[in-house]
Amino acid sequence: MANLLTDIKPFDPEVLACPYKFNQQLRAEAPVYHCPHTGVYFVSTHNLVVEVAKNEKLFSNKFALMQSGERQERDEELHDIRKQGFPSVETMLTQDPPEQRRYRSLCQKPFSVSSVARLEPYITGLANELIDAFIDNGECNWMSAFAVPMPVRMIAYILGVPIDDLDLFKEWSDASVYQFAAGQERQELLRTAQLVVDFQHYFAKKIEERKVTPTDDVLSDIVNSSADGQKPMDVPECLSVISQLLVAGNETTTSTFAEGMHLLATHPEQLAKVQKDPSLVPNMVEEMLRLSTPTTQMWRIAKEDTVLGGVEIPAGSTLMIKFGSANRDELVFDQSANFDVTRDNLKSQIAFGQGVHHCLGAPLARQELIVSWRVILERMTNFTLPAGEEELKFLPSLLLHGPVDLNIEFEKRV
Ligand code: HEM
Repeated sequence: MANLLTDIKPFDPEVLACPYKFNQQLRAEAPVYHCPHTGVYFVSTHNLVVEVAKNEKLFSNKFALMQSGERQERDEELHDIRKQGFPSVETMLTQDPPEQRRYRSLCQKPFSVSSVARLEPYITGLANELIDAFIDNGECNWMSAFAVPMPVRMIAYILGVPIDDLDLFKEWSDASVYQFAAGQERQELLRTAQLVVDFQHYFAKKIEERKVTPTDDVLSDIVNSSADGQKPMDVPECLSVISQLLVAGNETTTSTFAEGMHLLATHPEQLAKVQKDPSLVPNMVEEMLRLSTPTTQMWRIAKEDTVLGGVEIPAGSTLMIKFGSANRDELVFDQSANFDVTRDNLKSQIAFGQGVHHCLGAPLARQELIVSWRVILERMTNFTLPAGEEELKFLPSLLLHGPVDLNIEFEKRV
């Protein structure tokens, strides 16, 4: 028998890891659902998710405090570690206009379509280098061989982190993501906090250096930018921006590489189509983004009493807008769970969000995915999954939806 919506606890790990059935039920029964277990309003259909995301006047992104949790607020040792770092500033993702607009305009330039177009030779070289390391084995752990290192190395390159510091950089990047994750052991929480402080001091030094002697890298652009006569950001502001680039950019792109590979391994007919006609790669990437939607849901806070989809929402209420559900809305995407590299309405997919918070890194992520997949599909084919590992398992995270692991087998083309 089907579950009643009220029987489902949306933040249970099983639901977070595999939200598709719950999302489908929400879209069919209650597109704006006030959950009795959490008090959160879940918004699940494409039109309503877009409506909320585009209305930043009514729905705020100032949700940073909610992320840290009461337990962390009371922990003195944690407090002492954080005191050694820099004060936290809310910049883009967790800020509203006009402040959000200011920060965005100060770091927009290096992430524009024309700026990231210049990265193509670097991405091609890096993709080939990563593939060279495992191509003769006929199998690999796709996460550690490609899906994880590609985005980390791209952001490290953009920020001017030397190759010797890459392992540290990866640890800091993970710590930035997990510092607010739910359900962490206390020791892990303390270790993560220390890593974040170390990351801040490392970059504070680089920021000061770039302020005195600008170079031609993106970090210099971010540190010294003063768009429209505004003053450049100070060190805590720059640190917040850099941390957001790591948090927003790494795991998400990794997830699309991983889920994308799983989709190709389980849909050989789609792989054949795109290998026969490589001009389909950009469309395939959009379809991978639609089905994976790594930023699966995001908080919003209602600033005033309002009505959404016929449901009254009081001021101060917490909403969860479900990008992942919107991208599988059957009213917009025919056979929405199917993987179709020739789907013709992918301009409507909203994996990068909508409105003023639309992903700053979308051109970079697209460039990375398109250029990398061209190289991957030129060099490898006939992807399969080891026996017993056919099903992809996902981490039970609140906002992000990414695979735990992925081993593949393949044949070499060139
Ligand atoms: C497949 C990869 C990615 C996906 C799916 C993704 C998704 C998203 C989404 C849905 C938002 C909007 C959140 C909201 O409405 O509250 C967002 C914002 C953001 N993303 Fe991405 N992102 C990706 C890659 C990147 C990369 C590579 C970077 C930078 C290096 C980046 C930086 C940001 C930043 C800074 C914001 C906040 C923008 C603002 O609030 O003004 N993202 N991303």
